[in-house]
Amino acid sequence: MNIMRTKSVEQSVADTDEPEFRLKKSLSALDLTLFGVGVVIGAGIFTLTGRAAHEVAGPAIVVSFIVAAVACALAAMCYAEFASTVPVSGSAYTFSYAALGELLAWIIGWDLILEMFLGASVVAQGWSAYLGVLLEQLGAPIPEAIGYGGTVDVMAILLVLVLGGLMTFGIKESMRVNLVLVAVKLFIVLFVIFAGIGFIDPANYSPFVPPEAAREAATGLHQPLLQFLSGAEPTAFGIGGIFAGAALVFFAYIGFDVVATTAEETRRPQRDLPIGIIASLVICTVLYCAVALVVTGMVSYDQLDPAAALANAFAQHGATWMATVISAGAVAGLTTVVLTLLIGATRIIFAMSRDALLPAGLAKVHPTRRTPWLISIIVTLVVAVVAGFTPVGILEEMVNIGTLSAFVLVSIGVIALRRTRPDLPRPFRVPWNPWLPALSALVCLYLMLNLTVETWLRFLVWLAIGIIIYFGYSHRHSRVGQPGYIDPSLPHVVAPVRKAEGGEQTR
Ligand code: ALA
Repeated sequence: MNIMRTKSVEQSVADTDEPEFRLKKSLSALDLTLFGVGVVIGAGIFTLTGRAAHEVAGPAIVVSFIVAAVACALAAMCYAEFASTVPVSGSAYTFSYAALGELLAWIIGWDLILEMFLGASVVAQGWSAYLGVLLEQLGAPIPEAIGYGGTVDVMAILLVLVLGGLMTFGIKESMRVNLVLVAVKLFIVLFVIFAGIGFIDPANYSPFVPPEAAREAATGLHQPLLQFLSGAEPTAFGIGGIFAGAALVFFAYIGFDVVATTAEETRRPQRDLPIGIIASLVICTVLYCAVALVVTGMVSYDQLDPAAALANAFAQHGATWMATVISAGAVAGLTTVVLTLLIGATRIIFAMSRDALLPAGLAKVHPTRRTPWLISIIVTLVVAVVAGFTPVGILEEMVNIGTLSAFVLVSIGVIALRRTRPDLPRPFRVPWNPWLPALSALVCLYLMLNLTVETWLRFLVWLAIGIIIYFGYSHRHSRVGQPGYIDPSLPHVVAPVRKAEGGEQTR
């Protein structure tokens, strides 16, 4: 059984040109940057900042944001190299198919499905929660049974159905809606920063790193794996708290990697993908650090509201209209996160089905709209059901572990592909290979170890299900494994290879 077989970069690029699987190429570097910012800024900054500062890091949460940003920046460079070398839908999954072999590629794809499916569902519920807060502030509360935390979260379901419909209709249209909502979101984040500066009391920054304290709530399965393995008493705050905070607020950065899933729909992917990935990460890091500083300066960390810290910090200063504006901004802002995660999920499944690791019939593209309509509909329905009927709102850590594990493998993949295919053109190259990608893998692994034992157990169950599907279905059906499969990267093959722009070329 050959689980290490790879799919060559040439084959991946050639596949994108098959008429039935061809997506529309319409996105620019600016579209991608806005797409990135659209998916990155969301529930993380609006809700997790307060919770992480309150429970584990104190004002040093800003340092946690920097630590998480460093991990992301290292991984972003690896993503940028891959995305510029293999400009094909499917992001880390496609890269690792070329670099690490089919089984690991499947595992990464499976992790990314976890990241995006669960991410979309978690944020849809966060959206519904903020909508509830907003409508209550406006004097028109949603009936309890159909709002966030009710029997059925009808609001979250409606949101997912509308956004899923939009995504199925067209990528350019989705980007246009995204653009408007991203503008609203950026405005709100800047509003928090500039309006909040006036309320800062420097006394709130002291102690900046609160002294380590025992943490009752974090025992047994609820403690970070690292503490569990070392047998140390569960603690919060102190230096350890900064890293636990970083592992949590890592969620706030998730999404820049989703930019790479749109590679095939980008006009000049080699140039625009690295720009889109790195620019969105830089913009978000600056904004996050500013928000973290302002919020922990406005209210002492032990008084922060762990559920809706941003809006609440203003309410605590009597600025209720500002709190309402922030809630409205959060509602607009979280919308784009759900939209982009839905798009990312469909693109990953699209790439996996096109390779027949999932049923190939799913990957058909709509003849006129050129979107993977069938997958879009399935993804929409599944996310709507999960967001509407299950209590996923608290599973951010699951999203983090799925993403971090993909980052680890992508970083290793960069080193592997440099060795196996040094000949490939790499418009963007990670500096100091192999040290920088190796550091990236280690930092992401370290953050993973700071996630709770419970998260690890859930993740292992998810992986086990994925491996069963791989050996039960995907390995036998894989296109690369079929008898007639010809790898166009092999020098002896004289076969027509389609160029990415169309047309035919003979090697
Ligand atoms: N980064 C995204 C958010 O914070 C997932 O909502």
